[in-house]
Amino acid sequence: MKNQIKINQTIKPFDKKIFIPSDKSLSIRCILLASIAVGKSKIYNILESEDVFHTLEAVKKIGIEYIKRRDFIEIYGLGINGFNLKNRNIFLNAGNSGTLARCILGLCSGLESRIKLIGDKSLSKRDFSRVIKPLSMFGVKIKSEKSKLPLKFTGTALLKPIKYFEDKGSAQIKTCIILSAINTPGITKIKALKSRNHTELLLKYLNYPIKIQPNGKYDLISVKGLNQFKSFDYKVPGDISSASFFIVLTLLSKNSTILIKDVNINSSRIGILKILNKMNAKIKITNKRLYKGEDIADIKVKSITNLKSIKCPASLNSASIDEFLLIFLVAARSKGISSFKQLGELNKKESPRLDLAIKFLNMLGIKTIRKKNDLKIIGNPELRPKGKFHIKNFLKDHRIFMMSVIAALTIGGQNWKIEDKDSINTSFPDFLKIVKNLGAKIL
Ligand code: S3P
Repeated sequence: MKNQIKINQTIKPFDKKIFIPSDKSLSIRCILLASIAVGKSKIYNILESEDVFHTLEAVKKIGIEYIKRRDFIEIYGLGINGFNLKNRNIFLNAGNSGTLARCILGLCSGLESRIKLIGDKSLSKRDFSRVIKPLSMFGVKIKSEKSKLPLKFTGTALLKPIKYFEDKGSAQIKTCIILSAINTPGITKIKALKSRNHTELLLKYLNYPIKIQPNGKYDLISVKGLNQFKSFDYKVPGDISSASFFIVLTLLSKNSTILIKDVNINSSRIGILKILNKMNAKIKITNKRLYKGEDIADIKVKSITNLKSIKCPASLNSASIDEFLLIFLVAARSKGISSFKQLGELNKKESPRLDLAIKFLNMLGIKTIRKKNDLKIIGNPELRPKGKFHIKNFLKDHRIFMMSVIAALTIGGQNWKIEDKDSINTSFPDFLKIVKNLGAKIL
């Protein structure tokens, strides 16, 4: 079958320097903010993946023009509440992207058009009550069945500022609210459980009146609405979530070394580095510098044989939310029992990742103990499963596909079949190319 790969052997030792693709969260945010800036923004090194293409298409539907140049994308922003619409009925397709779907609703909160938002099979299973609730408080009208896509949406010119408590640690919800607050007169206040803060940092860099006051595990954010801001130039750094596949590939391989260049190491994203280093990984950060509010660095990793288990505090969950599949794989190969808490949000992703990760580990012969959303993994450094493994990936989850490849290349097994290769187009179309360049044999 064409959309399937086969792996029959672990990867040979390698010593390489790689560049990984640009950050998806930042690429999407740059497009959204450039479309409400005043004038022409230039976004360099934007991620070329389906989630980002869907974002460009979506802003085009609300009147934003853009031109793809050789090294950058020019986006012609129309200012806050300036969308230039010929049509009062707008049809938006967010594809697989939860970030786009949630954030575009905030961006459009001031638009009095009738918007219909749809997504693919995976996105259509995900919950939107988390953004319907705050948006309704702003005065937006939303209709949907069971808070799922397709969703019908009409913004209003009479938005009212809100006070909101975001307790899920979700940057998608937080960004949706911040974008809606920008369209709204007055001051919107959010008490948000800490999560990735790219939107806040980008707005601060743009001198937008947003205040962030850290308060224990929360951030108190206040956003003053309707403050027009100028267009900007931005070069998107590498994505730590994409880098993580190669960090774990190197850690779990034999006698290998990798240097990953120019990665965004924003502290709200590097939970995986903290967790793996607590497990003995000795990952090194070099060449650290600050770029327009974001920390960027190179990451150096070596193979390690004496990994140990971790008691992972829930406070690291949000900063490693997309990396848990990989972290579980490392826990499976570590000495001792690792424990993780409050992982409920993992089941709200492109597929129910907590359920599927447990199935996956059990398939390899790893014992797990689950109590509601807490998980214990009984590690086995000698893990060398025999047999044939077939990963079906029904919801075409890109991260399930890529994690399975890393498992097959490090843990072994005689014959792996992994379905839905195309899922990588969501976030990391060059994934298999880079894996092969490191020497992996993939059929
Ligand atoms: C994202 C936030 C996270 C993450 C997703 C990207 C973002 O989702 O899982 O891949 O760019 O804001 P939640 O904020 O819903 O946890």
